[in-house]
Amino acid sequence: MTDLLLVSIRFALFANLMLIAGLAAFPLYALTPGEQRDCETGRLLHRPQLWLCLFALLLSFGGMAALTAAMQGVGALAIDRGMFLAMVRETDVGAAWLVRSAALLVAVAAALWLDRSPTLAAAILFAAGSAALATLAWAGHAAATDGALGWLHRANDALHMIAAAIWLGAIAAFLLLLRPGAPWSEARLAVAARSLDQFARIGTLCVLVIAATGLVNSQIVIGAANIARSAASPYGQLLAAKLLLFAAMLVIAAANRWRLTPALRQGAATPDQALTAMHTSLMLEAAAGLAILGLVAWFGMLDPFATG
Ligand code: HEM
Repeated sequence: MTDLLLVSIRFALFANLMLIAGLAAFPLYALTPGEQRDCETGRLLHRPQLWLCLFALLLSFGGMAALTAAMQGVGALAIDRGMFLAMVRETDVGAAWLVRSAALLVAVAAALWLDRSPTLAAAILFAAGSAALATLAWAGHAAATDGALGWLHRANDALHMIAAAIWLGAIAAFLLLLRPGAPWSEARLAVAARSLDQFARIGTLCVLVIAATGLVNSQIVIGAANIARSAASPYGQLLAAKLLLFAAMLVIAAANRWRLTPALRQGAATPDQALTAMHTSLMLEAAAGLAILGLVAWFGMLDPFATG
């Protein structure tokens, strides 16, 4: 039961913190300062942030409590203040939790400031959200790697998650901006098509960083010499499933970039048709991204070579 609780909280924290960082980054590279201040577009992206940050604080506390229970070998409701504080004071994962809580409090302040100073607050929110996300590297296999290689592994893992956050955050931003049924003007269609183009460049960079840091993670956790051995384990099979989902996301992203975005820009179809096609495709891409987070939340807690 505690394992299922831990996996669920890991999944929710990955998704929540990636949304905070990714949604904050989006306007910084895809919208002009005027559009960031534009009450409709800007507010659409700002509105969820405060709730996401408050929920992340709650989830992060719940995750720390569930981990304390798992370490103490007691039920989640059986832990007391002493157990919790000992875990916070005496473990690296406890120190990471403190850093994450501090980063999230900064994120809450920035979220409250978004409407007044959209660009600066979004930059602070991106930095604080990324710092909070990076602390999760102390809760996966990267925490177990010692010495200098350990720092490289955790830094690599953090970069891996931040690149994934920018990609998944952009999908969420487009789903908010392109929601069906919203009243459409030429100006808004132009903003949508131009921001899709802007993202195309950032997106390519994210994919390259994710693939490179993913290979480094794979080499440190498994090692090229042990691929066959790991392939026989649930860890290896779940990682393979993750790579298939990653490939599916790449195919969908390519279709968005080279087929649906031009259709949106050129008005090849009616705005509603082009928007609905793009929205459906983005929903599929988001579903594949969330499935990847679910897989990682699970296999990040498994022994990479255990078969039973
Ligand atoms: C959109 C695509 C991807 C997303 C959203 C994603 C997300 C993540 C996340 C959240 C973690 C967890 C880190 C932790 O627990 O510390 C992770 C770890 C990992 N990722 Fe990815 N990843 C993606 C693509 C890839 C690719 C393409 C590869 C392989 C080339 C890869 C290989 C790994 C490995 C080996 C780990 C370490 C898991 C562990 O701690 O045992 N990932 N990924």
